[in-house]
Amino acid sequence: MLKASMRRRAAAGRRSERAPVQGLKLPPGSLGLPYLGETLQLYSQNPKIFFADRLKRYGEVFKTHVLGCPCVVVASPEAARMVLVSRAHLFKPTYPPSKERMIGPQALFFHTGEYHLRMRRAVQGWLGPGALRAMVPHVEAAVASTLRRWEGREATTFDTMKRLTFDVGVVSIFGRLMPEHVKEELRTNYFIVEKGYNSFPIPGLPWTCYSQAIKARQRLGAILRGIMSVRRSMNHLGDDDLLGTLMRCRDGDGGEALSDDQIADNILGVLFAAQDTTASVLTWILKFLHDNPKLLEAVKEEQMAVYEENDGGRLPLTWTQTKRMPMTQQVILESLRLASIITFTFREAVEDVEYQGFLIPKGWKVMPLFSNLHHSPEFFKDPHKFDPSRFTVAPRPGTFLPFGSGVHACPGNDLAKLEMLVLLHRLVTAYRWEVMEPSDEVTYSPFPVPKGGLRARLLRATAGGVEDGGSPAMAAAA
Ligand code: HEM
Repeated sequence: MLKASMRRRAAAGRRSERAPVQGLKLPPGSLGLPYLGETLQLYSQNPKIFFADRLKRYGEVFKTHVLGCPCVVVASPEAARMVLVSRAHLFKPTYPPSKERMIGPQALFFHTGEYHLRMRRAVQGWLGPGALRAMVPHVEAAVASTLRRWEGREATTFDTMKRLTFDVGVVSIFGRLMPEHVKEELRTNYFIVEKGYNSFPIPGLPWTCYSQAIKARQRLGAILRGIMSVRRSMNHLGDDDLLGTLMRCRDGDGGEALSDDQIADNILGVLFAAQDTTASVLTWILKFLHDNPKLLEAVKEEQMAVYEENDGGRLPLTWTQTKRMPMTQQVILESLRLASIITFTFREAVEDVEYQGFLIPKGWKVMPLFSNLHHSPEFFKDPHKFDPSRFTVAPRPGTFLPFGSGVHACPGNDLAKLEMLVLLHRLVTAYRWEVMEPSDEVTYSPFPVPKGGLRARLLRATAGGVEDGGSPAMAAAA
């Protein structure tokens, strides 16, 4: 009896939740061809143009069909806020199963609720201001050795920056004492996984990038389990690195520890989230500064003042100094805006949702567009111009979301910015760079980067630079 009345109440509840949805129509737009939808149109051109074209035709909320899924695209600050913040509980993160398998299904960004919150707290704690302050010398050492390797040679900027962000990722995740051969094993397998992650998944064929990556992922799991086992046997889990943080993480007050698989999936998840993203933005910064010599001079002037303050680079850069670089900070923000390397994100409606009189059906994907906000003349005057001075005034709330927003917003944004500040400091005070075949074309890898990853040659600056081999401060940090 009680059960029957509970069922009736639940059904009534469901009806009242769903009531506003009845009679609503889908947003305007086209679902394209059967099965293929509009996937070919999206991937055969710059995605920003695909979206801009539809925004013009249909307005800020429209439907499409990509990668085998019906989607509602939303492109206003209000709609992005609704999906990511105010009604975030109605939209769950969603990724293709092949990608989830590659990273590891227990990585935090695939989850919602308690487990997500627990992992997020751990990651945010590891990336808190105290930890970042302690990271400055390690980032500085990684930057110094990356630039030393590049010096006097022509190389692909993006590949060089990927190596830098990998090194920073490894030192922050595993601490300073990671043996070189283990780091090399991690690097080799990580890059095989990354290649497979970005390839078309064809399971069962052993020679495909995808199958190779699955095997490399298994090897990475074994390497991580090995590192954890050594730490346990030494009774030293690690103080302030992410691995130690996760190994010590308990559910509630002294509750259950995380399993090795949970830890491994989150370690690789964070490394993935941190690496290509930061490397792409760093590559864009080098391009934008190269193309704007006056701005480069202004950044150099600001950084030379810090360099002089540090006794000509003999003293290490400090966290406080990185907070006093307004011009360089503006260049970073403007690069994040103009490059907009994360064009959009994906969510899935967990129930029918009404928005602005339209229906977003349960199970449909929802794509908040970031790049079109960043490139809208309504929010950013002359949006295609690289103009860091626009960040002298804070952008309108909700219009600048390079790191997303809400419960899944990027917890690594301050570390990413720190890497950019430290790289710029070292780069402009000690070096100059020549871009081979300058071009405005874009390569997708999968994030947008300047054509071919920006081939460039790095040269020692003739005036005001430090001596070969780096300053004593760098040598000490390395
Ligand atoms: C310029 C560099 C970066 C950019 C542009 C960027 C951007 C983003 C964006 C837009 C999201 C939200 C995605 C969504 O809502 O679906 C995100 C999430 C995330 N990012 Fe970053 N990110 C960067 C660097 C980093 C770094 C350095 C780390 C770690 C050290 C990191 C770790 C993460 C993690 C763990 C998440 C998932 C958070 C969650 O689901 O709760 N990111 N990032």
